[in-house]
Parts: sequence; structure tokens; C-alpha cells
Amino acid sequence: MSDAFAPSHDFKTQLTDLASAAFAAEGFDASAGRVQPSDRPDLADFQCNGALSVAKQAKANPREVATKIVAHFAGDDRLKSTDIAGPGFLNFVLSDRALSTRANEIAADPRIGAPGVAQRRKVIIDFGGPNVAKEMHIGHLRTAVIGESLKRVMRFMGDEVIGDAHFGDWGYQMGLLIVALREEQPGLPYYDEGFTGDYPAQPPVTLDDLGRIYPAASERGKTDTAFRDMARKATKELQAGRRGYRALWQHFVTVSREALKRDYAALGVEFDLWYGESDADPYVEPMIADLDAKGLLVDDQGARVVHVAKPGETRKKKLDDGSVIEVPSPPPLLAVSSEGSAMYGTTDVATIVQRQKEFGPDLSLYIVDQRQAEHFEQVFRTAYLAGYAREGQLEHAANGTVNGPDGKPYKTRDGGTLKLHVLLAEAIEKATERLREAGLGGGLSEAQFADTAHKVAVAALKFAELSNHRLTNYIFDLDRFTTFEGKTGPYLLYQAVRMKSILRKAAEQGLAAGTIEVTEPAERELVLLLDGFDGALKETYIKRAPNLLADHVYRLAQAFSKFYAACPVLAGDDAAIKASRLGLVTLTLKQLELGLDLMGLSSPDQM
Ligand code: ARG
Repeated sequence: MSDAFAPSHDFKTQLTDLASAAFAAEGFDASAGRVQPSDRPDLADFQCNGALSVAKQAKANPREVATKIVAHFAGDDRLKSTDIAGPGFLNFVLSDRALSTRANEIAADPRIGAPGVAQRRKVIIDFGGPNVAKEMHIGHLRTAVIGESLKRVMRFMGDEVIGDAHFGDWGYQMGLLIVALREEQPGLPYYDEGFTGDYPAQPPVTLDDLGRIYPAASERGKTDTAFRDMARKATKELQAGRRGYRALWQHFVTVSREALKRDYAALGVEFDLWYGESDADPYVEPMIADLDAKGLLVDDQGARVVHVAKPGETRKKKLDDGSVIEVPSPPPLLAVSSEGSAMYGTTDVATIVQRQKEFGPDLSLYIVDQRQAEHFEQVFRTAYLAGYAREGQLEHAANGTVNGPDGKPYKTRDGGTLKLHVLLAEAIEKATERLREAGLGGGLSEAQFADTAHKVAVAALKFAELSNHRLTNYIFDLDRFTTFEGKTGPYLLYQAVRMKSILRKAAEQGLAAGTIEVTEPAERELVLLLDGFDGALKETYIKRAPNLLADHVYRLAQAFSKFYAACPVLAGDDAAIKASRLGLVTLTLKQLELGLDLMGLSSPDQM
């Protein structure tokens, strides 16, 4: 579905309106008037290339067309100049007055220059995707951090957004846990089918137990067929409602969920819903019946599948004997296994039915690893075929992996995965070191320092994540992420703290922010960036790409730093200049803080 926005008043829009009207008045297509930020900021603020394309069509001289267009801008006091460059590019330079007006307009706007969407949509963001008994590791960082940011961006833009963890609490893994625990504690009442009393309220396992039992059971299930069959049977019995297994499973879920929530909270990641895969279970049976009634289920060697590839959609597959055959691509969705169990894909389709019934979302966005792309292709196609969603309402916003220095998914030295809470603890340690090195935080109490170090650590991790496009695999390098220089989270926080400190000092001196008057080049640059926020947010929203927001926030922080070096704020005797510059600092801080918040970062008051 298309993304429609409320009318914008940024310069890009203002100048596009102006140029479009001029092209139309000269008898050309108004769309030629599209204006964009200049490729050569040293020469101009904005540019329009439309004269070239319309001249080509009209077989006219592009410079002559450009000259006619420019004539329409005479007397517009927003423009300091409009030059025709090269073969017929229009180069716009804004007047100081236009920049001042726009700065004051953004400063007075509670939305800080970004009007948001025209029509509120209901969006479900499926992210995080943690699993029972599996502690989160570095690989879970991407979906959590990107999902959290997109949730905040879409909500700020005006959509109604529901973040759902889609907790992996169902299926074969649960059966594995049940049978593995029985070997350790065979006397537990959960295993006694004759037991009719109340089960203990206390869980029989801790998170550490689960973290020990699960990986071992998972390994064993790969080779020990008797064990695997027991686990499969237990899975079926659990799903069929065996009382003791349900009670035991509930303990696994509770113990895991509490630990997961702690990890997420430490990272500043929140979900509105903690629905599990199990919550879709009641929808599975009627859905299978419905798929069957619609003629979509096909028997396949004892299993039941849905063919999702269109005629002609095939790929080559090499068989064991070396021969090559054409198989449907994407492959069919396995709806019911030969043992009669619902699979991962079945659960996902049933979840779509559930979400449709409970929320009726306009859009469901899945922030999940790229390696599950085919799975979602199968799931979405099945849902469209069955009419559970309309084409385009389901979207996989895929992400790449976090890699080690070897360019492969990150592993610890012993070949294991790095636990998320260990990772955060390491980041806090590094942040503490960095603060000390930089001579920062000396004046803080112990509690304040700890809070600052935590914020710096979270900013380092999250910004490193968000500054890469979600599909780009990036190399995990805590040393680089935690420095206060360069494109890092800590750099952004440091700039925010500088702004806060300027404003504190101003307040102490009884100085107040006033009307912004742009005169200096560094002020122009800063205001142009403040004006660019709306565009950056929209692109982030349309492309589901928080790296565009991250870029904007970073450039804003840099522009502030340049401004502050060039334009004294508290010094000097001109009261109007001081008030104007304080106004600019106040506004820049507001937009920076909003940008940080939309990325899920927060800045300390002091460092
Ligand atoms: N729990 C899954 C995993 O660990 C991720 C879930 C993603 N969301 C979904 N609707 N399938 O792979």
C-alpha cells in the first residue's frame, strides 16, 4: 500500500511547488519541477534538473528553457539567487531570510518540522522473535534494535503501531525440553499421567537449567532417533493438551520470558505484545480445514502442502545421482507434517489469521533475518492465496548478520555465540574506560556515572546497528563503536550533552532563546539540516531503513559542532545575536533528542 504524507513545508517542497508552477506556466509538465538538495553544496542549496528532460522532449535548447523558468522566480524573496549551471541545471541558493523564517517555523512546531502521515494506518511490527530456553545472543541484536526504531518512527509519523515479540514457544523444541528434563527429574508430577492434584507453583528449572538442557537435547535429537521420536511424541501430546505437559511448558515459558524481558529492558527495547507462537495454535485447525475447503492443500508423501509458485516459477535442483530437475520456486509451504504436526510456516499463517481477527492491521512488517526470506515468501503467498491478507499487506523487512572480523556471523573465541547480556556488560565496561580516557564524567556521582556509562554503551551498540542499512552485514567492533569521535552513538550523546551544558549556562546567566536570525555560513548549514529532518524521516519510513535517520542525526550533530566552533553563543555583547544562537541551540537539541529517541537512544544530562 502507498505511503501518503501530510503536506510538508520543507524547502524541498516549497521550491518544488515554485518550480513546478513555472514549468506548467511555460507549457511543460509540472513534474519537471522536482527539486532536490544540491549535489554541490558548495555552489547551491537545492537543484532542479527538469529543464534538461523537458528540453529533450520538446527538442529545445535546455539553457533557453532554464532561462524562461528562472524568469518566474524574480522577486521571490526566499531566493538569494537562481543560477543556470552547465547544460541547464537550476541551482537555488536560499536567502538568509528564508532560512530564518523556516528555522523559527520549525522551532514553533511541536513536531519539529515533520508533519507525519496523512492517514493513520494500523501497523503490526513483528520483531525480536526470541525463543523459549534460548538465551539471546548477538544475532538477536539486529531485529530488536531495528524493529524498536521502526516502531518508534512509524508511531511518531502518526501510525497506530503494535510491536509483537512473536515469542517462539511452540513446536518440537518444547518436546525436546520435556523429554530431556524427564531424564534429569523423572519424579516430577508433570510426567505422571495419573496425577490429578495441583502442580507446584514454583518452576522446576531455572533459566540456567534451560540454557544447559536445551542445547544438549537439540544436539542429541539430531543423531539419537529414539530420543527424537520421544520428543516428537511429547510435542504432539503438548499440543493436544496433555495437562502435565502444559503445566510444565508454562514454567518454561515464564522462566524464559522473564529473562528475555530483562535483557530487552536493559537495551531499551519494548514490545506491546508478547504473543507466542502458541497463541496462534487455536487458529491452526480451523485454518487447515479452510485451506482444504479452498482446495489449496495438496497431499505430498503423507504430508500436506500448499503450492505457492506460479506456473513457470522454477529453479534447477541437483539430485543425489547428479541429474538436474526443475522444481517449483518458492517450494511449497509444508502445512501439516507427515506426523500430523503444524510447522513453523503453519504457525505464521495462523498468526496472520489471528492478527487479522484481533487487530485488522493495514500492514504487517516482519523484521527478521534475510535467511528466512523464502519462509516468508511461502507464508505470504499462502495467506494471499487463501485471502487472509491483501497483496502488499505483508512485508518482510529483512536484515543481514552481525559478523566477526573474519566476515562470518560473529562467534566467541570458543566458537560459541556471544550472549546479549554479556555483550552489554562488555560494552558498559568499554564505555566506562572511554569516558575515563576522555576525562569525562569526573564530576558525576557514582550512580550518575553508572547511568551515563550505560547510556553510552547502549548508544554505541544501537547506533552501530542502525547506521548500517539493515541488509548490510557489518563487522562487530566494540572498540570502534564506543569512541567519542566519528560516526558513533557516543559522539551523538556527547554533542547532545554539550548543547545541554550551553543551555544550562545560559539559564544561569539569565539569557533566553529568541528569534533566530541566520547570518553565518555555519548557521545556514545547520538550518538546512534542521529543514532536512522531514525528508530523512519520510525516507526512513518508506524504505523501512533507520540508517537514513541515523545519517541525518549524525550530520546534524556534525553541523552543530561546526556551528559552535564558528559562532560563539554565550560570548559577545549583541543580545539579539546571543538570543538567536540560543534559539538555534535549543532547536537543534530538540531535533537531536527526538532523533535519538526515534533510534531508541537517550542522552545523559551530563558527562
Ligand atoms: N523465533 C524465530 C527464530 O528464532 C523468529 C520469529 C520471526 N517472526 C515470525 N513471525 N516468524 O527464528
